[in-house]
Amino acid sequence: MTGTCRTNISGAAWCPEVMQHRETDTTPEHAPVLLEEAIQLLGCRRGGRYVDATIGLGGHAQAILERILPGGQLIGLDRDEESLAIARERLARYAPSVRLLHENFKNLPLVLNNTGFRPVDGILIDLGISSFQMLSPGRGFSFRADAKLDMRLDRSQRLTAADLVNSLSEQQLADIIERYGEERHARRIARAIVTERRRGDITGCLQLSALIQRTVPARRIPAIHPATRTFQALRIAVNEELEGLEELLTGVVPFLAVGGRLAVIAFHSLEDRIVKRTFRNLAGHCVCGRRPELCSCPRRRAVYLVTPRAIRPGATELERNPRSRSARLRCVERVGDLGPESRTPGTG
Ligand SMILES: C[S@@+](CC[C@H](N)C(=O)[O-])C[C@H]1O[C@@H](n2cnc3c(N)ncnc32)[C@H](O)[C@@H]1O
Repeated sequence: MTGTCRTNISGAAWCPEVMQHRETDTTPEHAPVLLEEAIQLLGCRRGGRYVDATIGLGGHAQAILERILPGGQLIGLDRDEESLAIARERLARYAPSVRLLHENFKNLPLVLNNTGFRPVDGILIDLGISSFQMLSPGRGFSFRADAKLDMRLDRSQRLTAADLVNSLSEQQLADIIERYGEERHARRIARAIVTERRRGDITGCLQLSALIQRTVPARRIPAIHPATRTFQALRIAVNEELEGLEELLTGVVPFLAVGGRLAVIAFHSLEDRIVKRTFRNLAGHCVCGRRPELCSCPRRRAVYLVTPRAIRPGATELERNPRSRSARLRCVERVGDLGPESRTPGTG
């Protein structure tokens, strides 16, 4: 990593020269993050059944397939048809063993149920968006792109980032920017947006990022671009990225074989907090923070924590792919049914 490159909180490298080069380069690319670590944790075995719930360009999926064939099978999901088409081409040579679906991962339990794809040996969820999406001209994810404020992962959805920016009240905008962007200047930015749009709709990424740049106080050495957090917040809101994550993680556990594993890569603290808390809950730990006699956590032990602490990229990966900097990988393993009332001794 060069001294001038930084990584933004949504995981993309903020490095002016690199961004300039990449934004004009239309070659689909995305380096799978924590690849070796994820594959090892999933324990991919020949002949096994695996799911990549966020297949993207198929980097992780290809590595899984190479370890589970012959005899193995993989289901891959993505909300983004463009990414799915690239994954389909990349994985064409494994076609008989792969099924790709344009689907929101929150429907994964339904998909597994309806396809009879169970029990599953491993499920990978690599959250967020890929570099390909971030840097694709026209998708409107980047605060540096001369593009419409779009940010839809699923382009069949109607709501775009521009719709939110131009229709929400100042209070609603501030709440979204504060909650999903953890932006301390959220109220100031929301006020500036509402003032600006009196003159006409805000429709472009550059228009919004310039407005934010003018609005927040300049820092002497900015760690990230001033628009980073607001763009992240809008993206999460447009795609409802955090909604249903906890239900998904809980809902897929019954589909895992005993000894089957669920691995999740998160890219920002909001996601990682949900993953960490849900995994601890599933492992029978207390997550409510109350005194033991008032604790209402179910304390049913459905999994054990394979990674009590999140795994983070090592120095070599950070050097090769600065985008990986904010990644956190956590994994659980399904244990045998202990019954609804069973409590894990000594946890909490
Ligand atoms: C970080 S990328 C995955 C990259 C992939 N592991 C690879 O190796 O190429 C995340 C992917 O998840 C997809 N995605 C995000 N939210 C989703 C959801 N709720 N349902 C399905 N796919 C989703 C995005 O469209 C994106 O392609």
